[in-house]
Amino acid sequence: MSVVRRVFALTVFSQGVLGGLYPGLSTANHTCNLVEPVLSCSDGAQAGLVDSCCAETYGGLILQTQFWNTYTGRESQGQLLPKDSWTIHGLWPAKPRRQYDPEPSPNTTTGTPAGKPVKPWKGEPISDFIKRFRKYDLLDYMNKHWTGLNQPSWYLWAHEFSKHATCFSSFDTECYGPAYVQHEEVIDFYSTVIAYYQNVPTWRWLSQGGITPSNTTAYAVADIQGAIKTQFGKVPYVGCSGPRYNETAPGKGSKDNGFTVLSEMWYYYHVNGRVQRVQGVPVDASGSVTNCAKAPGAVWYYERTAHSVAQ
Ligand SMILES: *[C@@H]1O[C@H](CO)[C@@H](O)[C@H](O)[C@H]1NC(C)=O
Ligand SMILES: *[C@@H]1O[C@H](CO)[C@@H](O)[C@H](O)[C@H]1NC(C)=O
Ligand SMILES: *[C@@H]1O[C@H](CO)[C@@H](O)[C@H](O)[C@H]1NC(C)=O
Ligand SMILES: *[C@@H]1O[C@H](CO)[C@@H](O)[C@H](O)[C@H]1NC(C)=O
Repeated sequence: MSVVRRVFALTVFSQGVLGGLYPGLSTANHTCNLVEPVLSCSDGAQAGLVDSCCAETYGGLILQTQFWNTYTGRESQGQLLPKDSWTIHGLWPAKPRRQYDPEPSPNTTTGTPAGKPVKPWKGEPISDFIKRFRKYDLLDYMNKHWTGLNQPSWYLWAHEFSKHATCFSSFDTECYGPAYVQHEEVIDFYSTVIAYYQNVPTWRWLSQGGITPSNTTAYAVADIQGAIKTQFGKVPYVGCSGPRYNETAPGKGSKDNGFTVLSEMWYYYHVNGRVQRVQGVPVDASGSVTNCAKAPGAVWYYERTAHSVAQ
């Protein structure tokens, strides 16, 4: 079980190291089911006006992000990709255009823990933590659907928690009330990410739009975006990696310098109430909607390497 130990050793510690978004919050009276959910990014969603445990007051534009990789780099250790499914990258709060709040309070410039290195948590033995939460099923799902590339998956999970979970106001530990059990927000965060991910089945949606992985036919990013929009209702951000189109043989001489290998999909939401309720309201991607090449037939949605896929 050494992987299990390391997973929790890495993911569990960040809370104590980093602290909450609104330090000094009372643990009393955060029964969010008793209040009307407030839509994030609306005028009312400000820390002074609502309970920051019951509405997302920091940012409030939420992204569920997914990867399409063709291999993991750790196949020999049993780290495989799920069949016919994209994998989880994370759940991120993005800073929206803050027309209502030019000077956020508290000063999130100083409060943001993003970018701090992850440090091992000392204290509770990891085995006790796992016994207390009894979340082997969660761990199993994460192993199958939240897959690292060229690194153990748990490393990605730890990064995602320490970088992003701490920027949601509703994961502050005080929000869990006086009966808070140490690190329960870590489990809560991972469960919430999965719930969002399950609502946006990228592989199936693309497939229903006639877009399936192929090593012989490339696609137009507009068609990829269109297939998702048909199902999701809003435009996602489509991310590509690999060579730029103008540096490939078919794109030689072209002014189109976008990337050519489909690798990410980002779904944008506002959320009603705390993000844990999973009441996302889809919104269009803001700003740039892709970094992929725009030419027809410029974007590769590659088939996976056969031995990289779980059967
Ligand atoms: C919590 O709510 C109860 C019932 O309304 C109230 O008596 C109590 O003072 C509140 N506690 C705090 C810390 O606001
Ligand atoms: C927030 O903190 C940063 C960094 O300490 C500081 O430069 C800035 O002036 C502060 N902003 C406010 C509104 O206090
Ligand atoms: C392709 O575009 C990039 C980015 O604009 C540029 O740096 C590069 O020189 C271009 N390559 C060719 C072959 O035109
Ligand atoms: C398809 O192409 C990608 C990228 O070159 C490669 O990694 C993958 O193994 C190929 N898949 C199959 C089934 O040939």
